[in-house]
Amino acid sequence: MPARGRDFASNDYLAMAGDPRLAAAIGAAVARGVPAGSGGSRLLRGNHREHEALEAEAAAWTGAEAALFLSSGYAANVALLATLPQRGDLIVHDALIHASMHEGLRLTRAEAVAVAHNDADAFADACAAWRAAGGRGRIWLAFETLYSMDGDRAPIAELAALAQRHDAVMLIDEAHATGVFGRDGIGLAAGLDGRPDAVVLRTCGKALGVEGALICGPRVAIDFLVNRARPFIFSTAPSPLMAAAVRAAIDLARSDPARRAMLADRCAQAQALLGPLGATATGTQILPLILGDDARAMRVAAAVQAAGFDVRGIRPPTVAAGTARLRLSITLNSSAADLHDLAQALEQALT
Ligand SMILES: Cc1ncc(COP(=O)(O)O)c(C=O)c1O
Repeated sequence: MPARGRDFASNDYLAMAGDPRLAAAIGAAVARGVPAGSGGSRLLRGNHREHEALEAEAAAWTGAEAALFLSSGYAANVALLATLPQRGDLIVHDALIHASMHEGLRLTRAEAVAVAHNDADAFADACAAWRAAGGRGRIWLAFETLYSMDGDRAPIAELAALAQRHDAVMLIDEAHATGVFGRDGIGLAAGLDGRPDAVVLRTCGKALGVEGALICGPRVAIDFLVNRARPFIFSTAPSPLMAAAVRAAIDLARSDPARRAMLADRCAQAQALLGPLGATATGTQILPLILGDDARAMRVAAAVQAAGFDVRGIRPPTVAAGTARLRLSITLNSSAADLHDLAQALEQALT
């Protein structure tokens, strides 16, 4: 279904996708001769100074030693999970990690074990049990900082402490936190960049309003990906124009904290208005309203759509059976008045 109605569905949380400054950055890049296409893989003729300028900017923004730009978060997650952990290693991952991380898990030679969602003790138990059973390799902890369908946050500090105790490396997916949280919009993992045990994925197609993804981490991890990650090596490099646009988006995220503050206020309003209707109090821009039954979720979504709101129902297998829901996403594309209207429409649809 094409986008229709007031936006309570997109990941364009800061309303940056339509910001004229991003279009202007592309226009300026065109004017200085940056080509639309890269013409090949980064390792052949597709490498462009715009890619390198973006990666330098991303490292400076986050404090990571190095960064690598890929064409999507999906490709980046596959690259991370399939390339970094080796045979003999263990990947401990949250049960609710994104499909793209699962795709990487299908390709890894390491062992993998899922643990209960957001349960730092379960992560710790899995690490201890594997070591006790003779596991000798490296442990990798894979998690999102802000879960896309539940809107809740990972116990990041506990997982970071666990990584230190076990000499483990964290593979951190900041897809939904990038731009929205943290100093300069770096995300919820701000402060972990620069550590030797943190590799952070930031997608550029959500709050940053553009597309692609940046893997930020230690130089040794980035170099390893450049030389080994098949989604990076055997794929046409992203458009250099996109690299220029992402650089401008990072600039906006850094220089416009008022936008983040406005979104935070809007999220608090959403919590107050939609909480009484059953939306989970996540404290973030993603509010799931769990209805359980698939047909009911789609019926309520259709009724709210008919009233002029873009709200999507989410069913299994995207979420667990029995937890069909409306995924209410708060963005600056909709006004405070839109939010009040949505609450009214939802109340009617739910009765
Ligand atoms: C948590 C998470 N990681 C990764 C991705 C993939 O990012 P992209 O859309 O850039 O491929 C998504 C996309 O929905 C996501 O929600």
